[in-house]
Amino acid sequence: MQKYLLELEQKALLELKAAKGAAELDKIRIKYMGKKGLLSTCMRKIREVPPDQRPEVGKLTNIIKKKLTAYIKDARLTNARQPAASPRLDVTLPGREPLWGHAHPITLVIDEVCQILSKMGFMVVEGPNVELDYYNFEALNIPKDHPARDMQDTFYISKNIVLRTHTSPIQARIMETTAPPISIIAPGKVYRKDSDVSHTPMFHQIEGLLVDQDINFGDLKGTLTLFLHQMFGSDTTLRFRPSFFPFTEPSAEVDIQCVICNGKGCRTCSHTGWLEILGAGMVDPALYKFVNYDPDIYSGFAFGMGIERIAMLKYGINDIQLFFKNDMRFLKQF
Ligand code: PHE
Repeated sequence: MQKYLLELEQKALLELKAAKGAAELDKIRIKYMGKKGLLSTCMRKIREVPPDQRPEVGKLTNIIKKKLTAYIKDARLTNARQPAASPRLDVTLPGREPLWGHAHPITLVIDEVCQILSKMGFMVVEGPNVELDYYNFEALNIPKDHPARDMQDTFYISKNIVLRTHTSPIQARIMETTAPPISIIAPGKVYRKDSDVSHTPMFHQIEGLLVDQDINFGDLKGTLTLFLHQMFGSDTTLRFRPSFFPFTEPSAEVDIQCVICNGKGCRTCSHTGWLEILGAGMVDPALYKFVNYDPDIYSGFAFGMGIERIAMLKYGINDIQLFFKNDMRFLKQF
């Protein structure tokens, strides 16, 4: 039995020396020291050894077990320090270039819109994402039970607190604290219960508001035309289409000629040749009573646009979800 044990030890050591990689080491460990391993079997067979030899054999088995355990531990450490996959380190190879971060396409479009409109005299401001029902609806001439509340499926935080469904509440907040003349733009996140290829529960808008004396629809048209020509190119054709918003009167939606098919009609523009790009109108005088402006002295216009939509048209992207997946293969391209 002693002889067998010593032979077993030698064999195990030879195998361990020849072993390559952690997996092989583990196989050898199981072969000798696993529950049904060769050493464990010896332990069990001690009963069959003549009683006077038992203590000796038991001791030897334990010693061998300890030795092999220590050896395997050692071999594992060496192994971890020298991964089998790198035969030799070539210090002359150029290093791997780190991935450079850059602004997200949505941020790029927000920056561009803000830059153009800032040059035209609009000041950039912000408002809270978690908004009071009062600013998101009431002060924008959307009382409780008004059907227009259904236009924007709202996330309610509590009875009177919502995730803002548009950036228009910033209009009410600014007018409440500032006397005219004012001209502001307000970019930010907005939230609606909606999710498909053209809708995400969170998206971005930029609001514009200008209030002063003698402001008329011509000023609105001129401002938006200049802006859209800078954004999409000076040969872009626009059209102003009558529309409805509770906080503007009269209201319009502005379309640009489809940038994909140049107005001939394609899938992107639902074969109309036109793409809706923003909502706008003259500030409804009903709003002025909430902020104590005199409607006989002041008038103004407001507009609001979806940033994702502009980014999709500008970069030819057909799935809005791509903006929020953080896939480097997509983001790298901007
Ligand atoms: N808030 C409107 C929307 O989300 C857009 C809008 C803004 C319309 C300002 C008119 C004036 O659809």
